[in-house]
Amino acid sequence: KSSISFVCQECGYDSPQWLGKCPECGMWNSLREFKSQISPLRSASPNFVGQANLKTLESREDVRPKTLNEIKSSEKERLSTGFSEMDGVLGGGIVPGSVVLLAGDPGVGKSTLLLQIAFNLSRNKVVPSASSGQALSEAKDTIGATRDSSQALPDQNDKRGSVLYVSGEESAEQVKLRSSRINKDLKTNKNIFILSLTNTDGVAATIEKTKPSLVIVDSIQTMESENVGGLSGSVSQVRYAASQFIKMAKILNIPIIMVGHVTKEGMVAGPMVLSHMVDTVLFLEGEKFTKLRILRSLKNRFGPVDEIGIFTMGEGGMKETNTPEQLFLTKNVPPNVTGSIISVAMEGSRALLVEIQGLVVSSKIPIPRRVSSGIDYKRLELLLAVLQKHVLLPLSGMDVFVNVAGGLRLSDPAVDLGICLAIFSSFKNVSLSNTVAISEVGLLGELRGVTSLDKRIKEAKKLGFKNIVSFDTHKTLNEVIRSLGKI
Ligand code: TYD
Ligand code: MG
Repeated sequence: KSSISFVCQECGYDSPQWLGKCPECGMWNSLREFKSQISPLRSASPNFVGQANLKTLESREDVRPKTLNEIKSSEKERLSTGFSEMDGVLGGGIVPGSVVLLAGDPGVGKSTLLLQIAFNLSRNKVVPSASSGQALSEAKDTIGATRDSSQALPDQNDKRGSVLYVSGEESAEQVKLRSSRINKDLKTNKNIFILSLTNTDGVAATIEKTKPSLVIVDSIQTMESENVGGLSGSVSQVRYAASQFIKMAKILNIPIIMVGHVTKEGMVAGPMVLSHMVDTVLFLEGEKFTKLRILRSLKNRFGPVDEIGIFTMGEGGMKETNTPEQLFLTKNVPPNVTGSIISVAMEGSRALLVEIQGLVVSSKIPIPRRVSSGIDYKRLELLLAVLQKHVLLPLSGMDVFVNVAGGLRLSDPAVDLGICLAIFSSFKNVSLSNTVAISEVGLLGELRGVTSLDKRIKEAKKLGFKNIVSFDTHKTLNEVIRSLGKI
């Protein structure tokens, strides 16, 4: 049985006829033709609920509705990744049976982070029992073999610590090369199993056969199957692979982390559809040339969203950092430096001290430059207008540069006051480098309230800053500047 459909490569919209423009996402020329087949393999799969075998299903345990009381909670069994920063972002570790999508630009460090997690996990836990270990070693031979689904699940504790790393992007040797960069005890580690395979059904069969305690799929875009149309990376392939793995994760209660690449537009590629399917979407961000890496949760069924984990990438892989101020604050600031101020931004439940730098110089071009890095450009323009109008700073003939030190990108409006004061400090040549500024600035030059003021102040005081200005101490931007006694 087969039918033809047209699928949008951007958003996964499915249409029976070809259209020039996708009605879902508005993309032109993004629909591709697919022959979709209901494969005999799929309908024969024991987990596929089709019309035909509905009767035999009644005897199966997993189709029987259960009362809430009967359902076992696995909250206590979360697996630690070995990185407290990552565990925090996940809401306390990896939930068994959950599916995590780790998205990010190519080269940002996804594979490195996941390989390190594999090592952490394999070191913390006991070596798998002989049978499951052997099954994993034979992983490659099992592809194509008939699945033996009647085989009982081995005791959960038996296989704790074994990690199946499916590498569709790199060969097994390349993965090994990388592991020798990040880890020294390769010889003693018998718990990590590399599977260099891109066949979706083969990978699924291997997971089912070996039942490791964590599966890493790097990346979901390389997975392909004859059961669906399209090249690897196309929406239909990615969606099929994801749905197969999610099914595995739920049935076998094995957590799976899938890597997803990001398109230029910043979407989780191929398919935003993926983010609806998985339990958790994490995003690893960072510039190629700085060592800072931020792990963000964009969606999390098992924990908070917008929580961040802070890492640095260096020789030996990713390192987590519990003292972010060392990254974001300039060390040994000269005492009378101008154009620098401290602010406190909230990222999830965390208060981060950040240094905002401003530089104002007279411009030689008719339309002066306004350059921002780490903050929204439009926000900078707006704040410059407020400074001109309400503080009467003659900035119209000046080039203005604003930078958030350390490579962090801020969207918290609480840094507005810091931005204004950094610009003011540079323009008037007054040093404010020991001041902490926390407030949103409105169009009238008024200081507006922000969330978690106490937490922010506490963090600033913890690091020894005493001079704190905020909407709590002043009403307007003008008032702050006058009180600093420098106008
Ligand atoms: P990688 O994990 O391959 O990125 P992704 O999987 O997201 O595409 O990271 C590759 C980059 O990381 C590469 O530029 C080299 C760098 N790197 C280090 O700086 N230190 C290390 O220990 C390793 C393994 C990689
Ligand atoms: Mg990679």
